[in-house]
Amino acid sequence: MATSYLLPCYVVITVLVLFFSVDVTEGAIREYQFDVQMTNVTRLCSSKSIVTVNGQFPAPGPTVFAREGDFVVIRVVNHVPYNMSIHWHGIRQLRTGWADGPAYITQCPIQTGQSYVYNYTIVGQRGTLWWHAHISWLRATVYGPLVILPKLGVPYPFPAPYKEVPVIFGEWWLSDTEVVINQALQVGAGPNVSDAHTINGLPGPLYNCSAKDTFKLKVKPGKTYMLRLINAALNDELFFSIANHSLTVVEVDAVYVKPFTVDTLFIAPGQTTNVLLAAKPFYPGANYYMSARTYSTGRPATFDNTTVAGILEYEYPDAPSSAASFHKALPLYRPALPQLNDTSFVGNFTAKLRSLATPQYPAAVPQTVDKRFFFTVGLGTHPCPANTTCQGPTNTTQFAASVNNVSFVLPTKALLHSHFTGLSSGVYESDFPVAPLTPFNYTGTPPNNTNVANGTKLMVIPYGTNVELVMQGTSILGIESHPLHLHGFNFFVVGQGYGNYDPVNDPAKFNLVDPVERNTVGVPAGGWVAIRFLADNPGVWFMHCHLEVHTTWGLRMAWLVLDGSLPHQKLLPPPSDIPKC
Ligand code: C2O
Repeated sequence: MATSYLLPCYVVITVLVLFFSVDVTEGAIREYQFDVQMTNVTRLCSSKSIVTVNGQFPAPGPTVFAREGDFVVIRVVNHVPYNMSIHWHGIRQLRTGWADGPAYITQCPIQTGQSYVYNYTIVGQRGTLWWHAHISWLRATVYGPLVILPKLGVPYPFPAPYKEVPVIFGEWWLSDTEVVINQALQVGAGPNVSDAHTINGLPGPLYNCSAKDTFKLKVKPGKTYMLRLINAALNDELFFSIANHSLTVVEVDAVYVKPFTVDTLFIAPGQTTNVLLAAKPFYPGANYYMSARTYSTGRPATFDNTTVAGILEYEYPDAPSSAASFHKALPLYRPALPQLNDTSFVGNFTAKLRSLATPQYPAAVPQTVDKRFFFTVGLGTHPCPANTTCQGPTNTTQFAASVNNVSFVLPTKALLHSHFTGLSSGVYESDFPVAPLTPFNYTGTPPNNTNVANGTKLMVIPYGTNVELVMQGTSILGIESHPLHLHGFNFFVVGQGYGNYDPVNDPAKFNLVDPVERNTVGVPAGGWVAIRFLADNPGVWFMHCHLEVHTTWGLRMAWLVLDGSLPHQKLLPPPSDIPKC
């Protein structure tokens, strides 16, 4: 298999029969140790101490490698003065919700000096996913790729690339991000925006004193490379383009898609996209920027409008692969990126995404629906506490966000454990609204009262429910796109549009043949998106906006999928080392 990845020597590869599962699975064991520790890192001529895994700040890594069907064992040891939890973003976690990672949803955090072993099998997934901290804003620096190769001997449904390269987008703050969000929450303000975007942790030549911190991709003429793009930014949806080169999209969120070729692509936080990059057939005598910058619509706060650039450079044919080919004398081309608020670009790009939908990789779209839900997603306010001045949209309000007007409050105990032990009273309620209690013109003039309610409410559904969920963006405090991420499932994006969802005429336009299947979808700015999924995974599953500031403000909720009647339809018991609150 053509791949540049070398499996780390500490990955133990053994064939075993999994005893804890009803199905007898054969796969390798992939073992990793994640030592969460403080590390000094310098960017933009300024040093700070950040939380890292094994001292590595994405360059990128540490990368978790596995094959479809493998059993993954990752021991996380917390050596930092913060509570920690790690989420394996996009992994289905069939019956193993205990290993999903969101703090206070599926586990209590791993406290300083403690450890927890995440165990799970990768079933029916192959492609690029990623892992990140799932508590407060610690994912700002705690993230890395999770690469799932196809089963041994199973080819990609496209020509095998010569090499594969992870390309992770991130955001960098000069100050401590935990301080940034805590200060903002104290006064109800929008938090400070990042100072740079990064590619594999590197800001690149367009930032102050960062030329030496530039990601460089060196290619050979005539070869095809697969870039595993991951948007790990906290708050910024991104456009990405490589000057004078096109990109063929072949997979998103670890699901193959019908290939299509673009000059520029769009990727929201939480999303992953595999693209094929065909190098020019002959040495071009030039270098090319690979650039990314924010997509943003009428945000109440400012946003990071800077551009990150890496450099695509060509090797001389037959040169030793270690030879440096980049020199400044060569012409340097820059890509043209869309306007910062180009919503129609985003809509056109996402409309191109289609499932492969072949016999080998079918699109198992629910053709019938058992339960329909309609959720509004958007911003709102909380009143400022008495005798204080706030810095929200007004000085008497604080920023908030909600789903169906419920701003989700994290409990102090883990929801999954409360459900499993039957001790849910005082932890959560089971009355999440199926639709807004007070309908309004969602994308029209916003209502005068923008206050949202607080609650820890779950949507409870039986095992095996075919769910249709329409998520409607609102115009409260301005229209904005929201990349919604659902844990524990992939869903099919059967429809989307601008304005208010029309329950009479819009369903007729749904794509039930080859809609894209993914785990994170953008609710369009001033529009709606419809998804379907089969609730075949018992447990408590977080769903939230992957713009971290919106999640913090409450744009989050959780589904409780009950056990089915058969043994393999039940949540497994918690591992004995599950952290306690
Ligand atoms: Cu990638 Cu709940 O997150």
